[in-house]
Amino acid sequence: MPSRILEKAGAQVRVYKDQDELALKAARRFARLADQYVVGSGRFTVALSGGSTPKAMFALLAESPFVETIPWSSIYFFWGDERCVPPDHADSNYRMTMETLLARVPVPQENIFRMAGELADADQAAQQYADTLQQFFLQPAASRATAPLANVPRFDLVFLGMGGDGHTASLFPETAALHNDSDIVTANYVEKFKAYRITLTAKTINNARNVTFLIAGQDKAETLRQVLEGERQTERYPSQMIQPRSGTLLWLVDEAAASLLQSD
Ligand code: 6PG
Repeated sequence: MPSRILEKAGAQVRVYKDQDELALKAARRFARLADQYVVGSGRFTVALSGGSTPKAMFALLAESPFVETIPWSSIYFFWGDERCVPPDHADSNYRMTMETLLARVPVPQENIFRMAGELADADQAAQQYADTLQQFFLQPAASRATAPLANVPRFDLVFLGMGGDGHTASLFPETAALHNDSDIVTANYVEKFKAYRITLTAKTINNARNVTFLIAGQDKAETLRQVLEGERQTERYPSQMIQPRSGTLLWLVDEAAASLLQSD
């Protein structure tokens, strides 16, 4: 059970005592949604976040009881964002996810759709991923409900992290991607890294059936307070842009990250 459940900005925030409990509850949520969608529609489509927070959850999913019970062959893996590096680069979200999860569970390689961070042209990589998503999601599939936004992929689940600067996916403060209301995937130049990132746009993330943030650590506390309790400033805190049109929004956090939140 969470130590606290809060209602913030129209979403539920479940606070767990530490990072281990947070990872376990996130793994259980993944497993529960996977079962729900595979039973309901024959597949489960999930976009994963990168960074370090998801690693503990991935490690649990690759072990018993999850590794034996999750319907891996019916799950399709995507990413919310990727760095513009080759897939074997130390900074690659794909590499991190392969090493901590996907190479350790029986998911078919053809169910894994990575962003081509190795391409020299970031716009080309973004367009290529958009084409992949359109081909995968927007094929006529009788059993799939239509998306609330036509021609926008609808993930069953998008996992997100949040940076200390309030970014999520690669929607960084004061960057062009925050104003991209037309594309489903975009290349986003991030000045502080002097590099491009490939990212789903808020339009695509907000089209998901379920969006779940996974946030841990004292270093996120002030930003999480601003995002959930402060005034709406999406340029400064892009995580505030995440408001699913007709999907669930759930924040899974540890006590350290939630330490500055007002209890209801
Ligand atoms: C990335 C992630 C990014 C991440 C946050 C939080 O490519 O880095 O997708 O959005 O979720 O930066 O990262 P940590 O979990 O490492 O704090």
